[in-house]
Amino acid sequence: MQTEISKRNMSVSGKVAIVTGGSRGIGEAIAKALAEHGAKVVVASRKLEGLQQVAQSICDAGGDATAITCHAGRQEEIEALVAQTVERYGKVDILVNNAATNPYFGPLMKIEMPAWDKTFEVNTKGYFLMARAVVNHLLAREAPGSIVNVASIAGLGAARFQAVYGMTKAAVISMTQSLAAELGGTAIRVNAVAPGLVETKFASALLQNPEAVKRMEATSPVRRIGQPDDIAGLALFLASDASNFITGQTIVADGGSRGR
Ligand SMILES: NC(=O)c1ccc[n+]([C@@H]2O[C@H](COP(=O)([O-])OP(=O)(O)OC[C@H]3O[C@@H](n4cnc5c(N)ncnc54)[C@H](OP(=O)(O)O)[C@@H]3O)[C@@H](O)[C@H]2O)c1
Repeated sequence: MQTEISKRNMSVSGKVAIVTGGSRGIGEAIAKALAEHGAKVVVASRKLEGLQQVAQSICDAGGDATAITCHAGRQEEIEALVAQTVERYGKVDILVNNAATNPYFGPLMKIEMPAWDKTFEVNTKGYFLMARAVVNHLLAREAPGSIVNVASIAGLGAARFQAVYGMTKAAVISMTQSLAAELGGTAIRVNAVAPGLVETKFASALLQNPEAVKRMEATSPVRRIGQPDDIAGLALFLASDASNFITGQTIVADGGSRGR
């Protein structure tokens, strides 16, 4: 017997996904999880070398992946990314908006405005432009789709010394809710994941302080900081039909640290 639940498993077989920031860290883990569960995956970021390594390792494992360079803050490159994906695989079904930047770590009062602008350009405007390009494509095909925005717990409360980064992530959470509502009646779902501290290059400023890491590990209910695969399972769930009744939500994956 096959129940509705088992039909709606985490398979993304036959789907085509774009993962921005797919050359390392959380994006790499998400791209690999999507590929392992049947999706054809385009990994995108600024530098081709890292992307090609990820695409190759997916192909070596029997999956299908393509590397395409794209600066996530530049509209023409974003539109070209979607067009090249359609050219390569015929369509896009899943977008994982994951490429983000955090050029400034320090007191909010001292931020220089170019750092402010860059953070909003990549983390907020870039996420929107990517989502708009993919949603327009899905609407033209009258196809279902899933957009997964990688936000952060920094967008859910005070983000000391990363305030502007936190603001961009709060904007992503708000955009997730609004876009999901405005796309009501279509089969396009929009959700976000909000990771806590995950061991990647991005978090190096925090990870360089072993005392702070030890403190975080000791007080976390799971007694450790996150690894990229801890986020990949959640992103896969939100991308797949297993989450068909979920839209407009932001799901925290931080080992329980926020609720302790
Ligand atoms: N690590 C954490 O503790 C943590 C916590 C909460 C949320 N997050 C979020 O998780 C996401 C992924 O971060 P991560 O920790 O996996 O970081 P990461 O390992 O440093 O990876 C960042 C990725 O984004 C790409 N990227 C950076 N700037 C870009 C740009 N302007 N255009 C296109 N691609 C760009 C990088 O590749 P290129 O250099 O080739 O462009 C790389 O693939 C981000 O949205 C981040 O805010 C991370």
